[in-house]
Amino acid sequence: MANVAVIGAQWGDEGKGKIVDWLASRADLVVRFQGGHNAGHTLVVGDKVYKLSLLPSGLVRGTLSAIGNGVVFDPWHFRDEVAKLQAQGIEITPEKLQVAETAPLILPFHRDLDALREDASGAGKIGTTRRGIGPAYEDKVGRRAIRVCDLAHLDDLDAQLDRVCAHHDALRAGFGQPPIDRAKLLDDLREIADAVLPYAAPVWLTLKDAKERGRRILFEGAQGVLLDVDHGTYPFVTSSNTVSGSAASGSGLGPGSVGFVLGIVKAYTTRVGSGPFPSEQDNEIGEQLGTKGREFGVVTGRKRRCGWFDAVLVRQSVAVSGITGIALTKLDILDGMESLRICTGYKVGDKHYDYLPPAPQDQARAEAIYEEFEGWSGSTAGARSWAQLPAQAIKYIRRIEELVGCPVALVSTSPEREDTILVRDPFAD
Ligand code: IMP
Repeated sequence: MANVAVIGAQWGDEGKGKIVDWLASRADLVVRFQGGHNAGHTLVVGDKVYKLSLLPSGLVRGTLSAIGNGVVFDPWHFRDEVAKLQAQGIEITPEKLQVAETAPLILPFHRDLDALREDASGAGKIGTTRRGIGPAYEDKVGRRAIRVCDLAHLDDLDAQLDRVCAHHDALRAGFGQPPIDRAKLLDDLREIADAVLPYAAPVWLTLKDAKERGRRILFEGAQGVLLDVDHGTYPFVTSSNTVSGSAASGSGLGPGSVGFVLGIVKAYTTRVGSGPFPSEQDNEIGEQLGTKGREFGVVTGRKRRCGWFDAVLVRQSVAVSGITGIALTKLDILDGMESLRICTGYKVGDKHYDYLPPAPQDQARAEAIYEEFEGWSGSTAGARSWAQLPAQAIKYIRRIEELVGCPVALVSTSPEREDTILVRDPFAD
């Protein structure tokens, strides 16, 4: 029996919420291992819609859930998201939810810095979610983070505050901002500590125990491989490793504990924020995909950029993230399109690439080379077996498998949980 890691194989927003929800209902423990409340996972259960940013999706199904050390943790957002879910009838208690004691906090000055930098960056703007994700990760690696466990030691935090204030006050001065108000920061932390500390726990120990008892663990990724700080379209990326490799380090288990890697892949491509997007359709086709696919960000409400399926990028994601099987989502959005295109390579000047060139200058100039594909007239919406799919839609899926070098494990044909074609059960491996 394998544990399963679920990761996005494009630029995020591939429809992880539904798949994670389905797997979470069959897991014993769900753990988030990177990112923060920049993520947006939508879960549709019956007539209820749950929108999660920071909390693991397992909570909605009542599965034990954990926020791992690799997540950057905004305690105020945590309190509000817990309250919002509780108001929707979800039971959230320390028996159901653990937060790693070693997770670094996102503090108000991280949010300030994120916004100040974006506003000052002109054409170099990354288009972040402005939630302080990048600055919080910088402080973690810079060894000046205030972490969840520090909330229990607020009367003895001078050395850490000296370090973090020395760094941030200099930066803030450069932006014409006053220094950090230490007394207010401590007051705010004292006020929020009670909302967090009951949930603080050694998540690595919970995982060790779960592993020893043969429990099924689901590692819930956020964002997508192309937003990975090492493997994505740098610098237009998030500040964490979104590849499956960080499931282990971001939660506190060895790499051998991650079994099946399920890569979520949308049947076309979208991205939010700035950065290269070779198969982007800034035209009627993009509009059509965006409208039909309701392509608006869960976190920021921003309109997503839309384009054709890019097999080059997904092939690369499959490789760098060791994806075992893909879950293809939103196939129904392509229903009724007369013809489709799949990007199979790039032209940069007179050079041909079958992978993403590393330099942002080349990525920006990359022209997509397409394979044309006949569309289908029937509907795939709500299909639960191959027999319910038009022959041409099956051909499209088969071609994607061939081009990305990875088999489809499941196909999702609507936001409803049951509207899924299961080819290979990730937990059964
Ligand atoms: P940050 O993670 O807020 O620093 O934003 C960095 C980049 O990642 C921006 O392009 C964001 O739009 C993008 N991003 C962050 N989280 C998500 C997500 O959950 N889905 C899609 N894009 C995201």
